[in-house]
Amino acid sequence: MEKRLYIKTFGCQMNVHDSARIAEIMGANGYVLWDDPKTADVALVNSCTVREKAWHKAISEAGRLRKHKSPRRRIVVGIVGCVAQQEGERVFRLVPGVDLVVAPDHYRELPRLVDEVLDEGVERALTGFDGGAEGDFLGAAPGIGSGQATAFVTVMKGCQERCAYCIVPTVRGPERHRPSGDIVDEVGNLVSAGVREVTLLGQKVNAYRREDEEFVSLLERLDAIEGLWRLRFTSPHPRHMTEPLTAAYGRLGTLCESIHLPVQSGSDRTLARMGRRYTSGFYRDVVRRLREARPDIAISTDLIVGYPGETGDDFADTLGLIDDVGFCAAFSFKYSPRPGTRAAGLEDDVSDEEKARRLSLVHERVEALERAHRGSMVGRTLEVLVEHVARMPGQIGGRARNGQIVNFVPDRGSFEELAGTLVDVEITEAHPHSLEGRVAP
Ligand code: 5AD
Ligand code: SF4
Repeated sequence: MEKRLYIKTFGCQMNVHDSARIAEIMGANGYVLWDDPKTADVALVNSCTVREKAWHKAISEAGRLRKHKSPRRRIVVGIVGCVAQQEGERVFRLVPGVDLVVAPDHYRELPRLVDEVLDEGVERALTGFDGGAEGDFLGAAPGIGSGQATAFVTVMKGCQERCAYCIVPTVRGPERHRPSGDIVDEVGNLVSAGVREVTLLGQKVNAYRREDEEFVSLLERLDAIEGLWRLRFTSPHPRHMTEPLTAAYGRLGTLCESIHLPVQSGSDRTLARMGRRYTSGFYRDVVRRLREARPDIAISTDLIVGYPGETGDDFADTLGLIDDVGFCAAFSFKYSPRPGTRAAGLEDDVSDEEKARRLSLVHERVEALERAHRGSMVGRTLEVLVEHVARMPGQIGGRARNGQIVNFVPDRGSFEELAGTLVDVEITEAHPHSLEGRVAP
């Protein structure tokens, strides 16, 4: 009989990708994805812990999942992802009723661990890091990807950057870079299965280096794959935005004109204290180089407000940078101390009210820029890779190369026929989170 797997995913694209791989691994062992935890056999929460809020979300979701257990219904409840690595066996005390804690480098063990929980009635925790050997990067098996136009591919994992505020190096481990041949093979297999757009993943993706292969030469090899139309990557670190990499935007046709480039702060004093190892001047120079290579590139970012010791002047520098760069979008966060990080030893001296005030000022600026950016698309024709049925009846949509979601009424064919194809759409309206248009004549 088929077994049912429920997965609730929180966090970054890495987690979304990992959940898809977990579904695949469990799928090979007789599990189907199931969207109701109450009637599932295995219920997992895959969560990030990069900010305190994410940690709380993960723990409370696990608390909700265990409540579906009953004497009549055995459900294996598990926590996976960064929270699993951070807390390990402590989870069993934090959330009694959880059976399974599995860190990201051990997902291939999940079917065995679930069986052990069921057969032996024990709790199981598996944490720690692998050595980054071949096969340790959770590549999609050949044939996977059919029916989808876009896919994620891991090129490196872990991070040794040790930004003072960041828990990622602790929970995702040291940097391990995947053999480039495996990456090229996986992308080739995905393209053969119908994938047209690939997003390369890594905590510091553009620091990729394996033997003679550097990030730019890897991009070149992927760009040459017949049938791959679009290439993206996330998340790059500004200090690895080398001249050859920014210049690649002027050369490689598959490289999309959008980049998410986390800056964190516009203040040189704060950047230095965060251990970011670049200045706001260097970041501005990267932006200038990117725009020189691709004038219409859309640049988005991550920002932290209220870092320990951030003064009003430091914060003003962040607002200044937002305006100068003209980000098309930004994820902004109130600083929260994370266990084991260097910044956790600093006094969290910006009050929560002040953090909230700074956050809302950032939101205001970014929203204005976002509106202007989307507004500037009206009247232009964008190439859309069809991926979804939109909420508005009759409309379908997908992403433009610049990352915008575009919905439109097709002039021919059903969604099934158009999925995975490119349609030129003339933008007629800008909405708060998407664009609307009509098929270009
Ligand atoms: N507090 C607030 N935001 C954080 N981020 C990472 N660590 C923290 C923290 N301790 C943010 C950064 C990063 C994004 C993924 O999360 O902006 O780019
Ligand atoms: Fe965290 Fe810095 Fe590594 Fe990004 S580069 S994952 S912010 S330590």
